[in-house]
Amino acid sequence: MTTPDSKEQVFQNIISFCKRKGFIFPSSEIYGGFAAVYDYGQYGVLLKNNIRDSWWRAMVQLRSDMIGLDSAIFMHPKAWVASGHVGGFNDPQVDCRKCKERYRADHLLKSYGVDADKASLEFINEQLDILRTSGKLKCAKCGSTDLTEARIFSLMVKSNIGSPVGEFKEEDVVYLRPETCGGIYLNFKNTLDSSRSSVPFGIAQVGKAFRNEITARQFIFRTREFEQMEMQYFVHPDTVPANYEMWKQTRWQWYLDNGIPENKLKWYKHEKLAHYATDAYDVEYDFACLGSDEVEGIHARGNWDLTQHSKFSGQDLSYFDTKTNERYIPHIVETSVGLNRLVLMFLDFAYTEEEIEGGTRVVLKLPKHLAPIKVAIFPLLKNKPELVTKAKEIYDNLKLSFMCEFDDNGNVGKRYRRQDEIGTPYCVTVDFETLDDNMVTVRDRDTMTQERINISDIEQYISKNINIAK
Ligand code: GAP
Repeated sequence: MTTPDSKEQVFQNIISFCKRKGFIFPSSEIYGGFAAVYDYGQYGVLLKNNIRDSWWRAMVQLRSDMIGLDSAIFMHPKAWVASGHVGGFNDPQVDCRKCKERYRADHLLKSYGVDADKASLEFINEQLDILRTSGKLKCAKCGSTDLTEARIFSLMVKSNIGSPVGEFKEEDVVYLRPETCGGIYLNFKNTLDSSRSSVPFGIAQVGKAFRNEITARQFIFRTREFEQMEMQYFVHPDTVPANYEMWKQTRWQWYLDNGIPENKLKWYKHEKLAHYATDAYDVEYDFACLGSDEVEGIHARGNWDLTQHSKFSGQDLSYFDTKTNERYIPHIVETSVGLNRLVLMFLDFAYTEEEIEGGTRVVLKLPKHLAPIKVAIFPLLKNKPELVTKAKEIYDNLKLSFMCEFDDNGNVGKRYRRQDEIGTPYCVTVDFETLDDNMVTVRDRDTMTQERINISDIEQYISKNINIAK
């Protein structure tokens, strides 16, 4: 196996691989690109959908205490005042006056070993001044020492609805949601009334979120438009610690079930909590391209969200327990993970360069159930119509069950390499013997071993081996 010498090199390999093979493209590239926004190509969209489906299966399909939801991106603007986002969803930022690079102040300070997570603007500027005075504060991009003081920037992305052209009115402002959970709180009562659920139960959804993030050249790790997979679990206040532990374990296990080795994961406990929260842990993944960083947050949010939305909407969002005759505002345990960040995690984990006889093989060792294409079908030779017809017949049959590709271009070795690069677990080759005995060669991506299998058994063989996560 070849090992690139730096994280930056691994990152560059992954980024160029993603573009070259049709996983991820920079947005609006023909116009020169659009910072911190990305498009998913033919294989990227399949990988992303497979990760989303694995999450949905574990979080909704297999649980009797979970309800699914797909709430709108636009919400009543008051909802974001109630949640505290309009007033307080900000990041202090620092600009380089020379090259115009912009930094999140807490990230900049972290690179000097100063913890400024959730710190006040005053504290941040004090720390920046200390570094400035000692001559240590420098722009990481151009080396200039001419950096601004930290200033507050809102992370909320604004739009407007209903203003005539040229007459933008402040009262028409709407926000693109900065997190998906807001729609869950606003539908708590609808879901409860329409589903016969009782506390404890959860609501889960997957959807787009938007944040005015600073460009940090981190590819899809941190973008301005992204997808979250969030779940809010509504519980009695006395049961928060037990439910919190249950969700920590459940989410940890999801990573293991999806092929991530335990030694690549760790917990990060937040010491500084939002004023309403009682606990917050991140699941961190040890990215080869970035180092250890957050992929998911698990938060005990108290009853802040439902209390605030009750207050601002004037609606009663309490819950009445008919067994105990108790009325209370449920507390919430939240699990929140970025789908795009998981795409990067799985690519980072799976991208492998292996030395084999005859050169280097790039292989995407994705867990098989997440692979964009499950099986590729080849006729041994392109110019033999009887082989092509048979291979097409197999392709037409297998595509009813799996994402398949038909490939008759180049020699079989080259076709294997192409499929290895995009992570296809199985390749099926039709040769002359197939026409006599109905057997095909099935080749395994990871072991590169081949076996002869009857055409009628291929579907079952693949289903059995692509091991859908528990
Ligand atoms: N509702 C809680 C919440 O949104 P968060 O820690 O801000 O919490 C949760 O976000 C997850 O969403 C993060 O762990 C990360 O995976 C993902 N995420 C947040 N901001 C992101 C961004 N700008 N780009 C990509 N993913 C992001």
